[in-house]
Amino acid sequence: MSEPFFFTWRAQQGARGIEITGGEGAWFTVASGERWLDLGSLIYQANLGHGRRDVVEAICAQARRLCLTMPVAVYPEKRRLAERLLALAPRGFSKVFYTLGGSDANENALKIARLVTGRFKALARYRSYHGATMGAVTLSGDWRRPPVEPGLPGIIHVDDRDATDAEAFVRALEFEGPSTVAAVFVESIVGGNGVHRPPPGYLRQLRHACDRHGVLLVVDEVLAGFGRTGRTFGFEHEPGLVPDLITCGKALTGGYGVLGAVLVHERVAAHFETRPLVAGLTHYAHPLGVAAALAALDVLERERLVERAAGLEPVLASGLQTVVDACPAVARRARAVGLLGAVDVDLDASGWDRLEAALVRRRIHVHLQRKVGAIVVAPPLVIAEPELRHGLGLLAEALREVAS
Ligand SMILES: Cc1ncc(COP(=O)(O)O)c(C=O)c1O
Repeated sequence: MSEPFFFTWRAQQGARGIEITGGEGAWFTVASGERWLDLGSLIYQANLGHGRRDVVEAICAQARRLCLTMPVAVYPEKRRLAERLLALAPRGFSKVFYTLGGSDANENALKIARLVTGRFKALARYRSYHGATMGAVTLSGDWRRPPVEPGLPGIIHVDDRDATDAEAFVRALEFEGPSTVAAVFVESIVGGNGVHRPPPGYLRQLRHACDRHGVLLVVDEVLAGFGRTGRTFGFEHEPGLVPDLITCGKALTGGYGVLGAVLVHERVAAHFETRPLVAGLTHYAHPLGVAAALAALDVLERERLVERAAGLEPVLASGLQTVVDACPAVARRARAVGLLGAVDVDLDASGWDRLEAALVRRRIHVHLQRKVGAIVVAPPLVIAEPELRHGLGLLAEALREVAS
């Protein structure tokens, strides 16, 4: 049936949706009553799992208390959330800029970097996604950028060979004329583009290059943040790293509210003490998003979900390795960091279609990243170990069926 709204990122003819009606824990339910095992956290935001009455109650209570504000409004939860987010960041972070999601977090990080440095260029990876709005999609290196070009002037992409070659960034920075570059944008751990964790020292090298040239280091934690990789933020895998700006979205609210944020270091925030911050949004710090984020942080802490993600990493890693071992003809390298993992697979278009159908039959939700040849797995951090093993077993079975 054709719907009166667009489906995103695809041709509309023949596009079909999935009628989600609810869920519990790592499972979501569809209109037919069937339960799907969610090994993708929907679109990487459902870190707290489905059916969280605690978060929903907090949102309802906020709606009854105060639902309508404006950007200049001050209310306790807005202040409390900013304080809590800054407490999660490295020492020296002093301000939060609220947004509605990840794209506009990156959008506003770029504006802040331009305003502070007076420069206009930014460097980002080819292997990246930073969002769909015009600035964020220009920063993105993946397939979603070229169809809507030209984007912003001055965004330079770098091939750092799956986040292994920091030197490529340093060289690009120097070739561009560092005095023209406002910021370097990187996902701390490449997420949707195939899960690539930079080697130790990589982010530190970027930090040093940025420091040498007065360039701001923006770390995109929209996908990796809030426990996904077994740390609160993905950049914490690089000990001692202090970015200038941290962009957040997705699991900030566990997916229960609409909110993103840019966390800003004092050395950047200080610029705006006497100069205008030329940025803002009607729904800046919307109370329902803020309430969802506060409740999500409560759950993250109370249920020790960051530690849980770290603890389950070996289960995910070995389960993905089993997928590779089961299908050596099409599956190659497996990797995992916390509860974010991937398997590289070599399939043609019909192979991917068959894999998708095999997963639908088994009611398993994962991310089939055809463009980069990877299956990305990112279950809710509340998933039980047997559920994870069961799901990965079904994934191996589906891939084996396609490979045979
Ligand atoms: C790393 C990263 N940054 C930014 C975004 C954009 O976030 P949103 O879709 O909430 O605008 C995404 C979304 O997938 C992402 O994965």
